[in-house]
Amino acid sequence: MSLFDKHKKVETNASLLLVLSFLVVAIGGTVEIAPLFYLDNTIEKVEGMRPYTPLELKGRDVYIREGCYVCHSQMIRPLRDEVERYGHYSLAAESQYDHPFQWGSKRTGPDLARVGGRYSDKWHVDHLTDPRAVVPVSIMPPYAFLKDKKITEQDVVALLKTHRMVGVPYTDDMIQNAEADLFAQADPDSDYDGLQERYNDATVRNFDGQPEVTEMDALIAYLQVLGTMVDFSTFTPDESR
Ligand code: HEC
Repeated sequence: MSLFDKHKKVETNASLLLVLSFLVVAIGGTVEIAPLFYLDNTIEKVEGMRPYTPLELKGRDVYIREGCYVCHSQMIRPLRDEVERYGHYSLAAESQYDHPFQWGSKRTGPDLARVGGRYSDKWHVDHLTDPRAVVPVSIMPPYAFLKDKKITEQDVVALLKTHRMVGVPYTDDMIQNAEADLFAQADPDSDYDGLQERYNDATVRNFDGQPEVTEMDALIAYLQVLGTMVDFSTFTPDESR
């Protein structure tokens, strides 16, 4: 029997084809999945990465609630055009504290993975208030109402605890001080410095320029930290892995 005849047997017998296909897929699957059980971690540790501060985490919640991810991705692919436009390609470690991650592939607007520090806080306030006042051709919706939404709720402790439950290393100290840290980050006049010790010199500023702490502060604090935790002037990928 020639090889082709044997193959014909497989092609004309549905059950045999099914069993053999399953075997092939099972072998392929095992080869891909088994090594993962022998690795402690698939994410390379990178200097500088820290969990989000309570204010940034709150801003991230606003970002998700408002559906910013519908138009914006947060993942720079290692392709030349992307790297030239947005900066160093995204590292796995950069979204290790993101639950859920914001990678995405839908880009009605630009990728935001490295938008932190690209514009001033004032630019963000103006842009979020009325995108067309800053970028005349913009099709981004306005979010001016965020300036009026004061942050008063006490749920930030629960927010941090939830993120700890899914693996973000928030310490008891961070959770106990979450409320104080949240308000301190938007108040440059306070002489409270616990926040900076806990969160690796997080930026303290009045992000939206108003006296109250609002969702606008939180969202801008979040946008301004995106892609800035790793110092790429000194970063070298670990090629041994
Ligand atoms: C309907 C799609 C859409 C939604 C929803 C949207 N954006 Fe945009 N965004 C855009 C477009 C298009 C641009 C490019 C034009 C501009 O700068 O306004 C943009 C630009 C931006 C920029 C400037 C990026 C850069 O590198 O120049 C930021 C920051 C931004 N958006 C943040 C947000 C945030 C935060 C939200 C949610 C509160 C949001 N966007 C929601 C479409 C959207």
